[in-house]
Amino acid sequence: MKVLITGANRGIGLGFARHYLEQGHDVWACYRSSPGKLAGLACQRLHLLQWDVALDDAPVGELPDSIDLLINNAGIYGPGKDGQELANITADAMLEVFNVDCAGPLRVVQRLANRVISSKGVIANISSKMGSSDDNSSGGTYAYRAAKAGLVIVSKSMAVDLAPHGVFVITLHPGWVRTDMVNNTGLIDVDRSVSGMAGVIAARNHDQAGLLVAFDGKVIPY
Ligand SMILES: NC(=O)c1ccc[n+]([C@@H]2O[C@H](COP(=O)([O-])OP(=O)(O)OC[C@H]3O[C@@H](n4cnc5c(N)ncnc54)[C@H](OP(=O)(O)O)[C@@H]3O)[C@@H](O)[C@H]2O)c1
Repeated sequence: MKVLITGANRGIGLGFARHYLEQGHDVWACYRSSPGKLAGLACQRLHLLQWDVALDDAPVGELPDSIDLLINNAGIYGPGKDGQELANITADAMLEVFNVDCAGPLRVVQRLANRVISSKGVIANISSKMGSSDDNSSGGTYAYRAAKAGLVIVSKSMAVDLAPHGVFVITLHPGWVRTDMVNNTGLIDVDRSVSGMAGVIAARNHDQAGLLVAFDGKVIPY
């Protein structure tokens, strides 16, 4: 299987890269500015690509002709907790996070859709339970919640648009995972999150197309 992952130089993206390499697949691991720990993964099936998803027409290296699994993982949280309170959130911060977390996956899919269609592959968009209105009882976190909610909606449209081409699109919540994004707080480690999401992807349950599904397989109302 040919797998392309954005934001793969650390955190959950790095975990996905390791997981699919260990399973014997070919991995195109993308990084924004520095390959980081990817540089230490000695494997002939690993291909490194620089790709900043915040940019239109980012120069990207040699892409595979077909892609069986595209994981839109790259994301940012935006300003720390206080910076996303009602009194402090700014339009600039809202737009910056939206550009990476929502427009980013859209850009990547626009560029790669034909390659995923050619293998009737899977697109997994990594959103968050934070993007669920149904789950929002604590308020705040305006930029991140809005951008991840936007991605849920965008991902659903992709699921509808690409289903007739044989492409399965799913939106995933990784759980609360110990990575830099959450200052290594969290309930689960990267391996647990990644193996759970990989299981959801592999199940290719068409009833879940376009839905927000957690790493443990539970559908999250949005
Ligand atoms: N951790 C959690 O509990 C949690 C929960 C729900 C959802 N998520 C989502 O899971 C995904 C991965 O999160 P994580 O916890 O692994 O976060 P992380 O440790 O902060 O890693 C984020 C990754 O995204 C990359 N990235 C950021 N902006 C980018 C851009 N413009 N272009 C390309 N890559 C970019 C980063 O690259 P650099 O190193 O170059 O900055 C890094 O590789 C994100 O979409 C996040 O929102 C995480």
